[in-house]
Amino acid sequence: MIIRVATVEDLMGMQACNLQNLPENYHLQIYLYHILTWPSLSYVAVDDKGRVVGYALAKMDEDLAEGDEPHGHLTSISVLRSYRRLGLAKKLMLQSQQAMSSVHKAAYVALHVRKSNRAALSLYRDTLGFHVEEIVKGYYADGEDAYSMRLAL
Ligand code: ACO
Repeated sequence: MIIRVATVEDLMGMQACNLQNLPENYHLQIYLYHILTWPSLSYVAVDDKGRVVGYALAKMDEDLAEGDEPHGHLTSISVLRSYRRLGLAKKLMLQSQQAMSSVHKAAYVALHVRKSNRAALSLYRDTLGFHVEEIVKGYYADGEDAYSMRLAL
């Protein structure tokens, strides 16, 4: 398995992976915008045939509140079911976090996750060291609350 920076050629594979794994889906232009605007922040895991089996789609936050520091935002991450628990999501996150810090001088990285998403919560909190900043009531389209999480870089 190879982890590398995502390119425009990976858009379809990333979208297919997202559609299989998450109810939060995005138009292709959203993927394109991330990759063209912050070319060092999104990563893919590819198998030996070059197929995308996981991705991390990330950006710098564009709407800074007054006094807020520049920070990264993880828009979406997923790994195909048969490739889970191999450490791919951890590696994808670490690559993106490293680039947020070194390329964009991000002070921290933020994300939202469903309160019920135990696997992702464990990845963020236990493996990567994120903390819960706040609970956002009804954040998701189906009304579920989100944890807003942060990790200082
Ligand atoms: N149960 C408990 N802990 C888990 C689980 C699980 N099912 N999966 C991962 N973890 C935790 C563990 O601490 C694990 O370390 P360990 O294997 O040494 O115990 C650690 O996360 C790292 O696991 P990885 O192997 O790197 O994670 P993986 O590649 O399997 O991907 C992911 C994790 C992305 C959450 C995957 O389960 C997935 O694609 N889920 C569906 C999509 C999803 O929920 N994405 C996150 C939505 S939030 C957002 O995108 C901002």
